[in-house]
Amino acid sequence: MNVLLIGSGGRESALAWKISQSPLLEKLYAAPGNPGIANFAENLNIKVSDFDGISAAVKEKKIDLVVVGPEIPLIDGLADRLSAQTLVVGPKKDGAQLEGSKDFAKRFMERYKIPTAKYKTFNKETYNDAVEFMKTLSAPYVLKADGPAAGKGVIIENDFKTACQELQEMFGGKFGAASSEVVIEEFLSGIEVSVFVLTDGKGGYVTLPEAKDYKRIGENDEGLNTGGMGSVSPVPFANQEFMAKVQERIVKPTIEGLISEKIDYKGFIFFGLINVKGDPYVIEYNVRMGDPETESVMLRIDSDLLELLKYAAEGNLKGKEIKISSQTAATVVLASGGYPGDYKKGLEITGIENVSGSTVFHAGTKIKDGKLVTDGGRVLTVSSLGNDINSALEKSLSEIKKINFENAYFRRDIGKDLLKYV
Ligand code: AMP
Ligand code: GLY
Repeated sequence: MNVLLIGSGGRESALAWKISQSPLLEKLYAAPGNPGIANFAENLNIKVSDFDGISAAVKEKKIDLVVVGPEIPLIDGLADRLSAQTLVVGPKKDGAQLEGSKDFAKRFMERYKIPTAKYKTFNKETYNDAVEFMKTLSAPYVLKADGPAAGKGVIIENDFKTACQELQEMFGGKFGAASSEVVIEEFLSGIEVSVFVLTDGKGGYVTLPEAKDYKRIGENDEGLNTGGMGSVSPVPFANQEFMAKVQERIVKPTIEGLISEKIDYKGFIFFGLINVKGDPYVIEYNVRMGDPETESVMLRIDSDLLELLKYAAEGNLKGKEIKISSQTAATVVLASGGYPGDYKKGLEITGIENVSGSTVFHAGTKIKDGKLVTDGGRVLTVSSLGNDINSALEKSLSEIKKINFENAYFRRDIGKDLLKYV
């Protein structure tokens, strides 16, 4: 098969690595890809927003399957555009609403009695009702821009007055059009876990390894939010009993709900869950894989991923199984000093060739004057398998030290908070 992977981050690097191992693969292309992806694919200089360019490449390169990494092209209708041409992994616009509109997602969960935080949705005209609703909740107040806001549209505020001000700013365009509607919801207290399924639009699905990501820049989850500083899989508290609840209360009703609404959802569903005293609740849906969860998840999949992706896109996953390694994966992100604030770009990266026994995925790199240089805040990830969290993490930490660029930064405590559940 000829496969085209859309995207250019660490998630797509991990997908490219895994897809490239499939005996079904003839040739892998990536649009636009990155220098790490170039080890497994031919990069095409086409932006993810250039639907005409992508469509032309599908025709020209005789692409049999397109795998869409990021959410924005899905929300904007890339799968609708391509599905007459070829097989696509990734939902059409209707299914992508699960991530594209928080209000849509909440109403969907309400219809199918899927456990989630109590909520209401408001706009500028209903500001006074929003304030009254907040009075019925206790602090902290959770305010979510309805539309996609590059992972930044959620505000959690302890002080009631400040929350009201924040709300006014959101209606005033703090997140552009994304916050003209705001979901206000009850704060849930617990520990988070990311669960992923790949589904075929006809009720067939496989559950991928679950993972936990680490969003804060500092150790012990302190400091500013980032795009993710590391991940581990499996997640010890997501044991058989918990995962059975996830399947019965969340995954199955979601898949059945999509079918009953005639949403032909072929692709990944990412359930952002929170464990509240042993019971799972949905914090959010995403219509793609997580980053940097994918870097850990791919290491633990022993099946041919491309075969499963093909079955999903064909509507043919029913009865198929996924083989998952019992080992633990730990991913540590190597970031540029200063991130998530200001940081330098174009710093020369050396030492990747010395890494052995761990897998390096590129997230923000580029080639400049024949040299590999940094091109983002999160630059590379180092992912390792081990018999437990400690051994996988130690491996990633010892290998990541072999990679050098000015002011490189990483967290040393990825997964450590989970040791108490082991
Ligand atoms: P979201 O973009 O919906 O994933 O929200 C970003 C982050 O805010 C989540 O990963 C949670 O850590 C936190 N969060 C969102 N909603 C809630 C909630 N209802 N209760 C507690 N934390 C939340
Ligand atoms: N790691 C969380 C996300 O990809 O949204």
